[in-house]
Order: sequence, then C-alpha cells, then structure tokens
Amino acid sequence: LVAAMEGVEETYIMIKPDGVQRGLVGEIISRFEKKGFLLKGLKLFQCPKELAEEHYKDLKDKSFYPKLIDYITSGPVVCMAWEGVGVVASSRKLIGATNPLQAEPGTIRGDLAVQTGRNVVHGSDSPENGHREIDLWFKEGELCHWVPAQAPWLR
Ligand code: TYD
Repeated sequence: LVAAMEGVEETYIMIKPDGVQRGLVGEIISRFEKKGFLLKGLKLFQCPKELAEEHYKDLKDKSFYPKLIDYITSGPVVCMAWEGVGVVASSRKLIGATNPLQAEPGTIRGDLAVQTGRNVVHGSDSPENGHREIDLWFKEGELCHWVPAQAPWLR
C-alpha cells in the first residue's frame, strides 16, 4: 500500500461553507491536484453540530468557538482526504496563515479570503490529526486506497 511508503502521510482538507457558497470548490481542489497529491476521499456534506464540536474540541475554551461551530454547520462543506509525501505540512503551506490578511499571496487564503472567521479551508496540523480527522469525517467505505497506473510525480 502507498500509505506504507517512506514519508507518505494523509491529511484532512475541508472546504468550509463560505468556500462552497462562493463557488471556490473547483479552484481549491485544483490546487491540491496540481501540486501532485493523491485524492483518497471526496464528498459534499452537511456537518452535524456534534461532529463540528468533536473536530474543533481543542478550541472549545476559545471565545470564538461558538461562532466557529455556527459557521462550520451553516451550510455544506467539501470533505477531502489527500495522500502524499509531506502532505500535511505542504497543505498548510498551500492554505496559508489562519488570518487571510496575513496569508501570503499565492496561498489559498492569501488569494481568496479576508477574514479569519471566513477563511475558506481547513487542513490538519499534524500527521496524527490527519488520521484522526479522516477517521472522524469519513467512513472506511468512502475512501479509495488506490495507486494511479502511471504517476511517478506523486511519490
Ligand atoms: P486554528 O486551528 O488556530 O487555525 P487553522 O485553521 O489555520 O489551523 O483555528 C481553527 C479555526 O478557528 C480557524 O481556521 C478559524 C477559527 N478562528 C477564529 O475564528 N478566530 C481566531 O482568532 C482563531 C485563532 C481561529
């Protein structure tokens, strides 16, 4: 399996409700595809409150937490599982800083957003959280463990 290869990780990437509503789904998926990562799971999903709370449980004491939960559950999100060498840190770079006004141009948030509370996309912050979040958002049958026929740029 690809996941057993040296340095290969998986990460959970989610297009938040503002990204879906603004018509940015294709643009955002494109950036991960073009970088050369492998798509293992993809779905449009209306997130129940309990799942949003579990996903963001480490932030539950923050003042912005209630608004964050309202935002994430305000409309459908696009859930994705991506695989590749160094995919966790690389995805965080593609996404850019939490505050879009501080995110570099060329990053998703730097190019497409202005507010921390509407920053269009989520990416796991560690390989451990990558596994945890993919387990949380996907059922096993929803993931494809596949290897492209000809794609040496992926690994
Ligand atoms: P965090 O995990 O710190 O950032 P990131 O998404 O870049 O990993 O925070 C999770 C989300 O919480 C963040 O994407 C947007 C929201 N948030 C706020 O609304 N206000 C804030 O001050 C912070 C730090 C985060």
